[in-house]
Amino acid sequence: MGEKEKLEDYLKKSVLFHDLSSSDIRKIALLFEMIELPMGDVLFYEKDRSSDMYIVLQGCVRASLFDEQGNELVLAELGPGEFIGEMSMIDELPRSATVIAEEPTRLAKLTRKNFMKVVRENPEIAVNVIKALVSRLRKTDDMVEALAFRNVEGRIVKFLLTVGKEKGSYENGKVKVRKMVHKDLASRVGASREAVTKALKALIFKGVIEEKGNFWLLSKNAEEEIDP
Ligand code: CMP
Repeated sequence: MGEKEKLEDYLKKSVLFHDLSSSDIRKIALLFEMIELPMGDVLFYEKDRSSDMYIVLQGCVRASLFDEQGNELVLAELGPGEFIGEMSMIDELPRSATVIAEEPTRLAKLTRKNFMKVVRENPEIAVNVIKALVSRLRKTDDMVEALAFRNVEGRIVKFLLTVGKEKGSYENGKVKVRKMVHKDLASRVGASREAVTKALKALIFKGVIEEKGNFWLLSKNAEEEIDP
């Protein structure tokens, strides 16, 4: 498959364009520019002024906020078929978060002008944008709930259960999650590395989390085994 056909194939599977006809996809594909982002590279920083939108074709990016000390809070991880940079594209305000490649990543870039043209010609795309934004709002509400109402132990358990269930990874009826370095886990649960180390120790001591080689195992009802 050539580069052009590959891009069309990716766009056909994407959240925004999956219900367009092959001939519409072929026309739209001409408007994209391909971008390769090595692992760890920044696509753009929070507060940057730019308004292009990107579709992730291969790999994965994360949208993060950083405090002045460099502590990171990961808002979302976005993989193949998902879009990123739509907020500044829609409202033309500065970027709401910093976007970093989690692994070597290929993206397709669309300018604001071209996006508006595509939406005018295919209004069903606007409905797909709304659906995706609603789904992101639900996930963000979930994160706000954890940050406001749960202690670090509770947030870790909730995060690990979500990751394990999303990946459908189980062992002996328990949710199985690959171990993460404490700093990375901290950036997913809005806590310091030190607080995560302490909370993990306590969860393992209480038997809520079991260590097995490179994995953590938790019962599906682990949330009921801890204080909120
Ligand atoms: P934009 O503000 O243009 O640049 C940063 C991007 O990160 C943003 O568009 C979204 O694509 C993404 N982003 C910001 N906040 C969230 C969130 N809560 N959930 C998912 N993606 C987000």
